[in-house]
Amino acid sequence: MAFKRILLKLSGEALIGQKGFGIDQTRLSEYAQEIKSVYNSGCQIAIVIGGGNIFRGLQAEKGGMDRVHGDYMGMLATVINSMAIQSALERIGVPTRLQSAIKMEQICEPFIRRKAVRHLEKNRVVIFGAGTGNPYFTTDTAATLRAIEIEAEVILKGTRVDGIYSSDPEKNADAVKFETLSFDDVYAKGIEVMDMTAFTLCKENKLPIIVFNMNAYGNLKALVEGKKIGTLVTM
Ligand code: GTP
Repeated sequence: MAFKRILLKLSGEALIGQKGFGIDQTRLSEYAQEIKSVYNSGCQIAIVIGGGNIFRGLQAEKGGMDRVHGDYMGMLATVINSMAIQSALERIGVPTRLQSAIKMEQICEPFIRRKAVRHLEKNRVVIFGAGTGNPYFTTDTAATLRAIEIEAEVILKGTRVDGIYSSDPEKNADAVKFETLSFDDVYAKGIEVMDMTAFTLCKENKLPIIVFNMNAYGNLKALVEGKKIGTLVTM
């Protein structure tokens, strides 16, 4: 096994699956199965999921909503997705704990770093909800922050494309995929991997990022086993 402790960042939008909005139960179950296969190999797993399938703070701001207000609504959306993932995992026998950056004790535990690490050591999948608990930060930043706090070896960013390309592969047929990139390459080429706050936090803490296609069956397990999938960003 290449990694003993990972932070898996999932996109909220991916949960839309075949539906127009919200959560596609089929996609949710598929993700849970992928996570279970890694869990069964003994890897410790923490998860951060976005909320874009339900609410996007930035877009709401364009429509005239106060940015901070919109960001808090987005954080709540991530808690809904976290609860969905939690339920899907527990349904197939994977023990989980959900911790939120915003206190909502009827629903989940508050984020306590030491407790999160203890849960991981006891082989529970830990899901972190409500982002960082602060407006102006993305879920990529939350994922990075939590990954550093729990000393994950890598952040696995699950997307619908199979890595980082020289330009948008969905728009340009001649886009070239990178196998590896250094943090400095990403700055120099102006490629967007994560927002700059998240990306810089990774660089400053020497936390490698792997961008991969989460929708391809078996990818996550293969990655954790050490196969070269997606694009690795490292020092
Ligand atoms: P260990 O002490 O390591 O065994 O961890 P544990 O999570 O099993 O113990 P704990 O007694 O803290 O939690 C038991 C259950 O209650 C778990 O499902 C927790 O997620 C849940 N739980 C703990 N604290 C809270 C809380 O503040 N709010 C909510 N809603 N659930 C909580």
